[in-house]
Amino acid sequence: MTDKNIQTNDRQSSNSIKTANADEADNILNIRNLTKSFRVKSGIISKNEWVYALDNISLSIGRGETLGLVGESGCGKSTLGRCIVRLYKPQTGELEYNYIDDDGQPQTADLAQLSNKQLKAFRADIQMIFQDPFSSLNPRMTVFNLISEPLIANKITSKAGIAKRVIELAEMVGLNAQHLRRYPHAFSGGQRQRIGIARALATNPKLLVADEAVSALDVSIQAQILNLLDDLKINLNLSYLFIAHDLSVVRYISDRVAVMYLGRIVELADTDELYTNPQHPYTEALISAVPKSEPDDVVTRISLNHEIPNPSAPPKGCHLHPRCQYAKDKCKTDIPALRETKPGHFAACHFAEELSLIGVKDEE
Ligand SMILES: Nc1ncnc2c1ncn2[C@@H]1O[C@H](COP(=O)(O)OP(=O)(O)OP(=O)(O)O)[C@@H](O)[C@H]1O
Ligand SMILES: [Mg+2]
Repeated sequence: MTDKNIQTNDRQSSNSIKTANADEADNILNIRNLTKSFRVKSGIISKNEWVYALDNISLSIGRGETLGLVGESGCGKSTLGRCIVRLYKPQTGELEYNYIDDDGQPQTADLAQLSNKQLKAFRADIQMIFQDPFSSLNPRMTVFNLISEPLIANKITSKAGIAKRVIELAEMVGLNAQHLRRYPHAFSGGQRQRIGIARALATNPKLLVADEAVSALDVSIQAQILNLLDDLKINLNLSYLFIAHDLSVVRYISDRVAVMYLGRIVELADTDELYTNPQHPYTEALISAVPKSEPDDVVTRISLNHEIPNPSAPPKGCHLHPRCQYAKDKCKTDIPALRETKPGHFAACHFAEELSLIGVKDEE
């Protein structure tokens, strides 16, 4: 029995798998009502508190789509990425993964429900690229060994085929045969990220979660890696969840963008629409904080009034209300649903239609 057969049988033995239905199966991943909280100790008496890192998140990633995810530090971006690759198990909700089985039939599996054993068959399909590849690369392994490691661990290639596949992967990410003999310390940040990407690609993934993948790199190197990711997406038919703080980077690479605030998605739209025509005060504030390329540009900075609240005791109603200059009484009590304010544009603000918010200028 081939490794692929083993995987297929494992997949089919899962209880949470059913045949995919039409529309929803167009997306590679449908996230529904996902919650994840952490118990943390706080204060001198070590009181237990809960941090609601993901509070009822619903979001879909289309096949071949790059979905950007932005938001301030601590809003839950990495937690969402880690739940998708099932480094974390969500408490509730669905992670509906749609895939084609070995017989060419569409199938669907709820990754949120699968046990670690059942997940083995899916791990190869969904991979993560991290911010700091250096810390995840064993300094005593050559690049050849680093790239062949996931091939061997996941039994992707026969022993005889490993060298050929390693060279193929290295070339895909812009490394050459000479690089393969060297150790990670001999590489620049950008090259190390290329090694990290080659490792992620080794298992022939369908969906990549890139968590701050270019945040530690110089601007010129960032552009190279972003272009590489874009080319790989097209050539290998990948889908991305691209997580970053930097709104300019996310705008450059994403087809759609989701904005997250304290564990909730507050806005979601096509990239150009979201940046030029924000519907949520939080998005407006994030956009206005992006440094302008022209120093003479008049910067209208829309500041948020206070610091990010304690995530274990978030404000009631709309989480943003204490910081929002447009907040009214309703915002203090009623949680705004994420609703379609225009076709394809979703915002979680009670007053989205009434506000005239400022986005980036079209030519920026
Ligand atoms: N393993 C954990 N244990 C306890 N709390 C955690 C854990 N992981 C995340 N958190 C908390 O969950 C919240 C969301 O964290 P997360 O790392 O997902 O945010 P983030 O948006 O990725 O932030 P950053 O932009 O700084 O990377 C934070 O309040 C964080 O302290
Ligand atoms: Mg993070």
